Amino acid sequence: MLKKITVVGAGYVGEHVSQGLMLNELAEEVYLLDVVEDMPQGKGLDQRESAPVWGRDTKLIGTNDWADTAGSELVIHTAGRPRKPGMSRDDLLEANVAIVRPCMEQVAKQSPDALVMMVANPLDAMTYVAKNVTGFPRQRVFGMAGILDTARFRAFIAMETGVSVRDIQAMVLGGHGDTMVPLPRFTTIAGLPLEHWVSRDRIDAMVARAAKGGGEIVKLLKFGSAYYAPSAGVVEMAEAIAKNNHRILPCCAYLEGEYGHSGMYMGVPIMLGREGVLRIIEYPFNEDEQAMFDNSVHATKGLLSDVEKFL
Ligand code: LAC
Repeated sequence: MLKKITVVGAGYVGEHVSQGLMLNELAEEVYLLDVVEDMPQGKGLDQRESAPVWGRDTKLIGTNDWADTAGSELVIHTAGRPRKPGMSRDDLLEANVAIVRPCMEQVAKQSPDALVMMVANPLDAMTYVAKNVTGFPRQRVFGMAGILDTARFRAFIAMETGVSVRDIQAMVLGGHGDTMVPLPRFTTIAGLPLEHWVSRDRIDAMVARAAKGGGEIVKLLKFGSAYYAPSAGVVEMAEAIAKNNHRILPCCAYLEGEYGHSGMYMGVPIMLGREGVLRIIEYPFNEDEQAMFDNSVHATKGLLSDVEKFL
């Protein structure tokens, strides 16, 4: 268990993350921070009052004051504008750099030894901003998206086959956007390749649906974007950190030569523990998979050149 985790942003994702941290008792204290006056205090208190029913001792505390977050071991950044129907994640770039940047200055000041988990969109670019502004090493700055994209793919496979989600292993890599890279070749059900269970056509349909999975939810909700699956992904990563159990999870990590690329964030399988990103695992891609990954890198690099303008 960690001593102190801060969740920045008490919107739908942030409040579900803090609840997940409490339900799994991943920290002694969880600070839920937001700029809106009284709101994080209200949500924090309500969650704290739910803890006796759940039988959990994690203390949930809402705040507007960064000083309260001092000495956090893990800071999870969820604050940012969500998409509206028809928008791409990339359309959020300027507005969310303006939110992420001052927050990361505070993180560097209040919690200089923290791990930072980015959740705001466009994810790969915002994680880059977090590393750039905090000046933390790559091991301590990473993002959550691959678990979400992979969870969507796994959910669709479960719907298609009727098999338990627990027996479906998958990896969706690349950037968290339309160019993400689902890997059917490395997807198995109870150890058997996906192709043994589902026709090629159906696999292609599920891959396409996973890649557009976030937009499907935005369109249905009309206001805001997904939060149950994103917050579940964050909690899974926080658990790997708090328990130092070295899970291998698809996460947004800074590349220094892995998969043939450097100086940017991409969704790749990492080994995650108390010290952050312990290793990046390199899958043996075939030519098509490498081409899809390179395409995703290309799209994210385009965004990064825009980020430099706003930094
Ligand atoms: C999604 C958004 C939150 O994929 O990026 O649902």
